Amino acid sequence: MQKQIFLIDKLKEDRTLTKHEWVQLITERTPEAAEYLFALAREERHIHYGHDVYIRGLIEFTNYCKNDCLYCGIRKSNSHANRYRLSEEDILDCCRTGYGLGFRTFVLQGGEDAFYTDERIVRLISSIKDRYPDCALTLSIGEKSRESYRQYFEAGADRYLLRHETSNSIHYSRLHPPSLTAKARKECLWNLKEIGYQVGTGFMVGSPYQTAEHLAEDMLFIRELNPHMVGIGPFIVHRDTPFAGQTSGTLELTLFMLGLLRLMLPKALLPATTALGTIDPNGRELGILSGANVVMPNLSPTGVRKDYSLYDNKICTGDEAAECRSCLERRMEAIGYRIVTARGDSLN
Ligand code: 5AD
Ligand code: FES
Repeated sequence: MQKQIFLIDKLKEDRTLTKHEWVQLITERTPEAAEYLFALAREERHIHYGHDVYIRGLIEFTNYCKNDCLYCGIRKSNSHANRYRLSEEDILDCCRTGYGLGFRTFVLQGGEDAFYTDERIVRLISSIKDRYPDCALTLSIGEKSRESYRQYFEAGADRYLLRHETSNSIHYSRLHPPSLTAKARKECLWNLKEIGYQVGTGFMVGSPYQTAEHLAEDMLFIRELNPHMVGIGPFIVHRDTPFAGQTSGTLELTLFMLGLLRLMLPKALLPATTALGTIDPNGRELGILSGANVVMPNLSPTGVRKDYSLYDNKICTGDEAAECRSCLERRMEAIGYRIVTARGDSLN
């Protein structure tokens, strides 16, 4: 316990730890150490962001994907997935609804779908930015060439989310097909940063074969990348993937990692993710209380929501955007936080 407190204080002081110290802190964590960590993490986020919680409207515009990540429900080999694409008009409708509900950030997320050529993506970005110049536009559409990323940026995209998933290349290769590598993923992230995007990365907690060493390497990589946002959530089993028989990650370890991230990058944006809300009915509230400061409710049309199934039992698949918005408002207020209507740019 003393050792844990010492390491948490050291993390707060130095904003980093050695790999060995990260491993120690993670493997020897106790509920008491976690409470101490969360108190410091909340203090830190209150300094920079107060009790404000930023919202991002997530538009899941295609579940076609050319990749075959072993954990992911929309992997190309999953023949049970009911595939869909939203038209530009559908997407603009989502934005209109979202804008009316106070969203000032739209996140376009999808599988790696060749139908959406660079030309189509650029047109989509321009249409959205034309209509909503006061909104931030985030893309989350996977690995692309540096040139493609540059074109999207010039068309007006402000931010890009691309989780590194796991920093360790051997672990990465156990979660992905050989066509995908940790090296290529990291290169994309460095390119995005260099182009000028506000960048979000992140990883799954409790993914198959993950060890404390891997988590330590994730922390070291994130420290080095110094992203604007870090999205983490528990790995959750999807029945139609090769990981159907694996066990899901835990609420407890995910919250602990969130607290550590807040102390390491005090000004970063940290979402309390939908996956966190899926493994525990109070997961998102607990995420906020562990240091998170963003929620990303779904703006996708209800008709397609259950088809964007990355993992089993995903929450909010039956709710209208307005319902999610007011539900989160209530949930945040119940724990002393408030949702704000703002772009919510990162201070990091
Ligand atoms: N469980 C939890 N998270 C998942 N993701 C993909 N599949 C799963 C799963 N089974 C996460 C990945 C990806 C993000 C969009 O969703 O980390 O980057
Ligand atoms: Fe689509 Fe992994 S299956 S990115």
